[in-house]
Parts: sequence; C-alpha cells; structure tokens
Amino acid sequence: MAKILLTRRFPKIGIDVLVNRHNLVVTGDSNLSYEQLYNIIDQYDGIISMLSNKLDEKMLEKAKKLKIISNYAVGYDNIDLAYCKKHNITVTNTPGVLTAATADLTWALILSTARRVIEGDKFVRQGKFKGWEPLLLLGKEVNGSNIGIIGFGRIGQAVAKRAKGFSMNIFYYQRKPNLEAEKLYGAKFLPLDELLSTSDFISMNTPLNSQSYHLLNKVSIQKIKKGAIVINTGRGAVIDELELSNALAKGQLSAGLDVYEYEPKVQKELTNMDNVVLLPHLGSSTVETRNNMAKISAEAIMDYFDGKTPKYTIS
Ligand code: GLV
Ligand code: GLV
Repeated sequence: MAKILLTRRFPKIGIDVLVNRHNLVVTGDSNLSYEQLYNIIDQYDGIISMLSNKLDEKMLEKAKKLKIISNYAVGYDNIDLAYCKKHNITVTNTPGVLTAATADLTWALILSTARRVIEGDKFVRQGKFKGWEPLLLLGKEVNGSNIGIIGFGRIGQAVAKRAKGFSMNIFYYQRKPNLEAEKLYGAKFLPLDELLSTSDFISMNTPLNSQSYHLLNKVSIQKIKKGAIVINTGRGAVIDELELSNALAKGQLSAGLDVYEYEPKVQKELTNMDNVVLLPHLGSSTVETRNNMAKISAEAIMDYFDGKTPKYTIS
C-alpha cells in the first residue's frame, strides 16, 4: 500500500478507485495553501494535485518519497517538469476528456460577449426592460465573422469544429502549421500579427509555457483589430492582464475570460467593466468531465503502483 495524498476532495468515482487499494488521505474541501502542502508532502509516495498546487523545486525537494504526481487537469504548468524528470518522478495529466467541455465553454464566452448576454440579464433583473427597442444592446454578428485560434491542439481544434457551424472563417496560429488539422476544419495558418489584425474573435487555446507567456502583451494587444473580442479559457498568463485591462478600459476590445494571470486574483478594474465577461475557471466543469478526470487521475496512481506505465504520462 502506498500513501497517497488527494489535495482536495474531488468526484467520488476517483476516490472509489483508490480507497481500498492504497492509503488515501483526502485533505478536505478547501484549497491547500502552499505552506500547508509543504508541511505534509514529505509523507507521501503519490499525490493527486490540483492546478492550484504549485509543485516547484522547493516543494519537490521536500517531497523525498514522492514517485508520482497525477495532476487533476490537462495543463501542468504548475509542475516543475525538469525537476521531475531529473528525479524520476512520474507526472500524468487528464487530456482528451475535457476537450469538448472546454471548447463548449469557450463558445459560451464567445456568444455571451458578442451578444451581451450578461448585460441583458442584468438589464432585465434591474427592471429596465420596457419592451423591444430597435437599438437595445446591439451586439456583434458571430455568423460569418473571422475567428483566430491561438494554439491549435485538441481544444483549439474543437473550438474550430464549432466555429464551422457558425460559418466562420477560421484562422490559427501556433509554432508549426498543422496541415492535417487545416484540412479537417478548413482552417488557415496565419502569422501572429496577421491573425491579430484579421480576427473578430481571438481564442487563446495554447498551454502556458515559456513561449506562450504574455503572448498578448503591450505591443501585440495594439495589433488586435479594433472591436475584436478576446477569449481566454487556457491559462491567464498567456495574456498580460494589466495591458488587456487597459485596452478594455479604452473600449478598444471586449473580452471573455475564464482564467487569470494571478488566479484567483482578478484585476480589480475588470470587475467594473461591461465589455468583459468573467468566469471562475469553469472550462472542464461539467459533471461528466470532472468524473472522467477523477477516474483518469486515480487510475494513473493505481497503474503506477501496479508497475504499469500510466496512460497519460507526461514525464
Ligand atoms: C484546466 O484548466 C485544466 O488544465 O485541466
Ligand atoms: C488540450 O487537450 C490541448 O492539447 O489543446
């Protein structure tokens, strides 16, 4: 029996996988702080981590027994992979099962920003609705417009698949063109600057790494077409949030954000603006998807201690 830490209670289906096979410790129903995790991590052979658990060099140096980190997320920018490689710590994630849910939420943000859904809801609740008006809360047409997808992996492509249904012109940018995916979705590769100046909607679907950090920054934000809508369901730090907030304050752009640079902190100014929709990191948050993620991350731990290579091993 290995001693396994689940850093926050998650769906029962995942707990059931492990509970009779290993010594599973669930720390509870709130996020563990860095210090709380630091104080206990040396007791564990395996950990199921949340994306809010920063597993950096200092933390991992303390985790002398740790053999496997099963991250309850597809993104793993919270983990020092180089350290794990060097010290033979296996790292796994939960790809695939959250692709559709995250692409759907991207679309929820595209449609709610373009069609001013949140403003409209507030308007009705505040008793301001006095009947149909020819110029009430005019939005932006989604059908037939240009979408630029930054990061054309599984989620980016799932966003494109949905964009096809809205007869959009689909552009994408990433380090290398993907000709097969271009054909599948009728998408066209564009250099970043050209994508920014052409797109009516810009969807950030790239993982966070040294290349994508602040991809949208003071300079590149100025290249975005006036009136465009920026959507981020990936990781906050791919955008310089302060610069985005400045552009939004000037009315140059609108935005739909599910993730933040300093999560869970949100630029205060954003919360006072009507041209941005703000969600609390809900990309994968459906019952079905979170169940699947829990099962996959628990099975990774099972497999590892049964001597098998877990299915979604990153390093
Ligand atoms: C969520 O953001 C994830 O990476 O799974
Ligand atoms: C996530 O699964 C991605 O590769 O986009």
